[in-house]
Order: sequence, then C-alpha cells, then structure tokens
Amino acid sequence: MDDFDLDKYLRASKKVDLAGVRWDQVSQHPVAEGEARSLAYMMDIESHTVIFLRDLLATRAAFDPDVTAFLSCWVYEELWHGEAFSRFLGEAGYGLGPDGERVWSEAPYPSRRARNTWIRRKVGAKGYASHVATLAAAALFKDFVALHMTWGAVNELSTLTGYHLLIDKTEHPVLIDLLSRIIKDERRHFAFYRAQARMRLARSQEARRVTRWALEHLWAPVGTGVRPQAETDFAIAYIFGDEAGAKASAEMDVTLGELPGLKGFSLARDARLDALRRVRVARPAMRAPTPLAAFRA
Ligand SMILES: [Fe+2]
Ligand SMILES: [Fe+2]
Repeated sequence: MDDFDLDKYLRASKKVDLAGVRWDQVSQHPVAEGEARSLAYMMDIESHTVIFLRDLLATRAAFDPDVTAFLSCWVYEELWHGEAFSRFLGEAGYGLGPDGERVWSEAPYPSRRARNTWIRRKVGAKGYASHVATLAAAALFKDFVALHMTWGAVNELSTLTGYHLLIDKTEHPVLIDLLSRIIKDERRHFAFYRAQARMRLARSQEARRVTRWALEHLWAPVGTGVRPQAETDFAIAYIFGDEAGAKASAEMDVTLGELPGLKGFSLARDARLDALRRVRVARPAMRAPTPLAAFRA
C-alpha cells in the first residue's frame, strides 16, 4: 500500500489510552444537552461497528488478509471508543434510554447492554435488508472491496472531522481530552481506508464508475438507519451546522475528491445541507423536552 504502514498499525493497535483522564471532573463542568445528544449518537454508532463488520465479512472483503487484519483491530478500537463515550455520559449524569443505566468507573463491561440490544432489535428488518443488499452488491460487483474501502474512508473522515469540530465547540476540558485521544485512532482508520480506496480505484475504471455512482445514490451519513433519522439530522446540525461545519464539509469533499474518480465530489456538503433542511422543517420535533426523552426517540 502506498502510504499506510499496515504492519506498524497492527503492532501498535490497542484500546484507546484513557490513563489520567480526569473522570472526577466530568460532572464539574456543564455538558450541554445538544452536546450530550450528539455524543450519545456517536456512542451508539461506535458500539454498532461490529454489526457493520458482520455484513462485510460475509462478502469477498473476507478474502483479503490485509483487509481482515485491519478490520480485526479496527472493530476492537471502535468498541472502546463507544465505551469511552458511555462512561463520559454516565459521569455527566446522563442515564439514557431505554433503562437509564448508570455508568461509572467500576461499571462492568460492556456497558449499556439494554440500550445496545434495544438499538439492534429496532434496526431489525431494515438491518437484514441492508445485509442482503450488501451481499447482493458484493456478488454482482467484482470490485466491491473498492467501494467498501471508499465508503469506509468517507465514514472515518466524517467521524474524524466531527470530533475535531466538537473539540472546537465544547468548553468541557475532559471531553476535549477524551476526543483528542480518540481522534488519533480515527486518523489511522481513515488513513487505511483511504490508501486502500486509492489503490483499488486507481486500477479499475469500473470500480471508479460504480463507487462514484453508489456513493452519490446510496450513501447516507454514518449511523443513518441505526438511529432514527431525526437523531442523525440533529447530530449533523449540532456538529456541522455552523460556519466552521460548512468549511469542514467543503474540506472533506476536497479530500475525498482527491481519490481516483471522485473529482468534484460534493457528498459532505450535500449531506449537511439535506440534514439542515430536514431539521428546519421538523423543528418542533427536534426540540427535546428532556435529555432522556430525546434519547428515547
Ligand atoms: Fe471510533
Ligand atoms: Fe474509526
């Protein structure tokens, strides 16, 4: 691979280092409701990674030892990101639906079992449909892994960019510390997917054509379908809704547009505008009377 050292990544992979995080300070600073709701969204998506992996390992992606080695470590790292957000929200006093579980220092892992079970059950038939669609796409499209790697690059770049924006937005010192640690993993995840996408798109015109078509017609922001549309839109509006978010979206499109066949891409910009439009239309529904009610959505 051109610019990603897989050997180095595999040797260094570990759960995010949270040594020295001032958990005792979390409740000393306010966590705005919008911030908590966005973090809960990200927590849910991070925790859901293993389900995406299930779908992918049923495809021809499983035949590539580089890809499977990366995915093995990637899913482990994402699990701990989910747990880090879970603990942060717990320390901040957010119980979250459906059971309002308290998460604290000695809370047994995995935390929020009821919530994660509830989310996975709710995805239900939609989840199976998307699993079958993934299988069908993989069977029909010989360069499916190129699409998968590009899709992964988009999602990791969205996450990475979102966490940067949250760092700039928040005044909570522990959250800044936490996100700064998690972001290092996200940067490596993006680098792997991007390097794979670049290599696979460069060598096949069909891969470029199908990948571009699929992203423009089928892609939706990470977490869409796992959580209700209103939660995805809320998180995008909260994190990307301002000027800094507009600029960051445009930069994302430039970065993605550097991949072979994706020149002139406007995926992030369009997704941001679509979410903002829906939030404006549904404004009363977006206003959550209490944090718990919002997370029960
Ligand atoms: Fe993550
Ligand atoms: Fe990631």
